[in-house]
Amino acid sequence: MNTKFSLPVPALVSVLEGQRIWPPPVWLMRQAGRYLPEYRQVRKSAGSFWTMCMSPDLAMEITLQPIRRFDFDAAIIFSDILVIPYALGQTVRFEDGVGPVLDRYPGLDGLVVDSGMWKQRLSPVYQAVEQTRKELSATKALIGFAGAPWTIAAYMLEGRGSPDQRAAKLFGYSHRKDFSHLFDRLADVVAAHLIWQLEHGADAVQLFDSWAGGLPDHEFSDWVIGPTKKIVGTVRDAVPNPRIIGFPRAATQSQYERYTSETGVNCVGIDTATSMSWAIPAFGAGVAVQGNLDPIALIAGGDALDQAIDEILAAGRGHSVIFNLGHGILPETPLDHVARVVERVRGSA
Ligand code: CP3
Repeated sequence: MNTKFSLPVPALVSVLEGQRIWPPPVWLMRQAGRYLPEYRQVRKSAGSFWTMCMSPDLAMEITLQPIRRFDFDAAIIFSDILVIPYALGQTVRFEDGVGPVLDRYPGLDGLVVDSGMWKQRLSPVYQAVEQTRKELSATKALIGFAGAPWTIAAYMLEGRGSPDQRAAKLFGYSHRKDFSHLFDRLADVVAAHLIWQLEHGADAVQLFDSWAGGLPDHEFSDWVIGPTKKIVGTVRDAVPNPRIIGFPRAATQSQYERYTSETGVNCVGIDTATSMSWAIPAFGAGVAVQGNLDPIALIAGGDALDQAIDEILAAGRGHSVIFNLGHGILPETPLDHVARVVERVRGSA
């Protein structure tokens, strides 16, 4: 039989391939999480966050929860950026009220080099991606992700979240060579992790550089742009037409511009303080822009929320944009405010 039929292309994929889709596709960073009662329910019976990340059935269930409730245009696989230190042999614990806590940085020689071992440790993520892609409607995109090397390195050296990444910066300034070797290792494992997610069915991948803010230009080049560019190149060599979103959160405007022109990503996510109307012309027509509703305006709701949504839509109209937050959704976010975002974005036809 020679029956041909074509599957629908998710709107988010079309935008990442340079099309202008209106209304724009919408999803929210950290859309699977504690603001959802159904997430808290699964979390309670699973016992721990890590168990959920490492069990494909639970990870798939949680990935699909926000799609069922809000009909977002994309699902992001439920996992964490700290699976990478785990793959490298640095154990991570998630403590209630504290967040992630990592074992002491073992030094470059203490990290796992064998990519077979990385793949084995991370295999629950790829199983979750594969299962979720099968369950998810063909009109929805599935996004895989990884932390970017600088943000992961900061956690590995600090041992936990930190306001100024002091330990990581001190290490980087005092041991430039060792730091650069660490970045080479991280670029390898992060590229592999993105490639394996794409090979298991992810339609796009996002690199979270949550701590890209506050770096001098020189270090932004060495620790953010360089490793990201290397990862993008490796992924492009391994997978046909990968769609890659980069999110160098809280970078300066000139750093954002350089990140956009130098790394080769298809789309740049902007944080809340970076304006959409500045970013679109500054980045140019070849790159999509994702963002950037203030997660706190989403908590506030009402007129403030409507106005903030409308400003982003007005700036984005006629361009390749993806509607999102400027950072992850917060646990205290009211559910009806989230529904309001989807309704208002879709209503802007
Ligand atoms: O976006 C999604 O819904 C997919 C899942 C996802 C999680 N973390 C689940 C999670 C994604 C994409 C991440 C990325 C992540 N993880 C980042 C980058 C994005 C950002 O927010 O800057 C960072 C820095 C982390 C590291 C991390 N994981 C921290 C700092 C914390 C604790 C703080 C917090 O929000 O609780 C986590 C735990 C975590 N990761 C939770 C979830 C749903 C909460 C776990 C729980 O207690 O149930």
